[in-house]
Amino acid sequence: MPKILITGGAGFIGSNFIRYFLKTHNDVELVCLDSLTYAGNLANLDDIMTDSRFSFVRGDICDPQAVAEAMKDCEGVIHFAAETHVDRSILDADAFLKTNVLGTYNLLLEADRKKIKRFLHISTDEVYGSIEEGYFTENSPIDPSSPYSSSKASSDLLAISFFRTYGLPVVITRTCNNYGPYQYPEKVIPFFITNLLEGKKVPLYGDGKNVREWIYAEDNCRAIDLVYHKGTEGEVYNIGSGHELENIKLTEIILKALGADESHIEYVKDRPGHDRRYAIDSSKIKNLGWSPRFSFDEAISNTIEWYKNNRPWWENIRLKKAEYRKFMDEYYSKLRKSE
Ligand code: NAD
Ligand code: TYD
Repeated sequence: MPKILITGGAGFIGSNFIRYFLKTHNDVELVCLDSLTYAGNLANLDDIMTDSRFSFVRGDICDPQAVAEAMKDCEGVIHFAAETHVDRSILDADAFLKTNVLGTYNLLLEADRKKIKRFLHISTDEVYGSIEEGYFTENSPIDPSSPYSSSKASSDLLAISFFRTYGLPVVITRTCNNYGPYQYPEKVIPFFITNLLEGKKVPLYGDGKNVREWIYAEDNCRAIDLVYHKGTEGEVYNIGSGHELENIKLTEIILKALGADESHIEYVKDRPGHDRRYAIDSSKIKNLGWSPRFSFDEAISNTIEWYKNNRPWWENIRLKKAEYRKFMDEYYSKLRKSE
């Protein structure tokens, strides 16, 4: 049975991907390498742990030995592991450079040594930076704004260089903002839902008119599967839903679904370097045979239901994890204060 290494599989998209992939492919073995940072959570893989085609290894992608052992006998790598929260990268970017840049480099080195047949590097539309009008294509220049997006852009460049220099069969996906079950409640959608479920206000940055393109994680997982199997070596694939929303509109939808009104919005200081709009042209992946299956209305209501029905999952993070409270306290005191 072909074996694939999944890095960062205890996080949000990685765990959704493992669940999706094992359901849709019988003839595959997955090994997950994850160091379980504050964002990694074995509870995200609870229902998968007993699957005989799955194994979990706790280890850091920056550790060459851990990587060499985890990649043993693998024919492919799908690399999700990263530090992912822009606001954290503004407070302190050290871990972003280590994991996103050096960790990716370490994986690429080992993949090349092992002559891996496929290396799928998961990236983000944030590497293109902000666009007021129109859409970024895969050929648009990279112009990141935050320490997070610059570290991801650096890892994209490294991955492409391994294809050009050593012929490592790299493919890259650049996805818009994801939402769905198991997303850590610091990202805007689960943060706002769980705040409201706790009867708290939601802090909206700046004028609330920044625009993001939103994709349901399961739609992204199907696209990743397709690029892994059918993407052309050395190429980048944008994965976007085409569903753009201003943050204020998104907030109003969440407020309405949870029976709250606009008095629950607290306008706070803007994020430094806050990209105004992300928007990508996804024709290339559509030409490969993918399109999103979920409408935003259906998927956001699934997501809200999931957080309503899985209170212990997020309460365990919000109430019991010291890292969560430390970040929120530090962030509120330094950056998020009301105007
Ligand atoms: P996440 O923060 O929920 O999970 C990241 C996972 O990586 C965690 O399980 C964590 O423990 C693990 N990890 C972090 N550092 C590690 C290290 N040094 N060694 C091993 N494991 C480590 O992230 P996510 O939202 O699931 O994002 C997954 C990937 O998708 C990332 O590469 C991210 O840049 C990309 N992406 C995310 C979004 C989004 O909206 N969430 C959008 C576009 C791209
Ligand atoms: P986020 O979920 O952090 O994703 P990203 O910055 O990677 O796009 O934020 C999404 C948008 O929501 C972004 O424009 C910032 C905004 N935002 C708020 O207004 N308030 C918040 O508390 C958070 C976390 C984000």
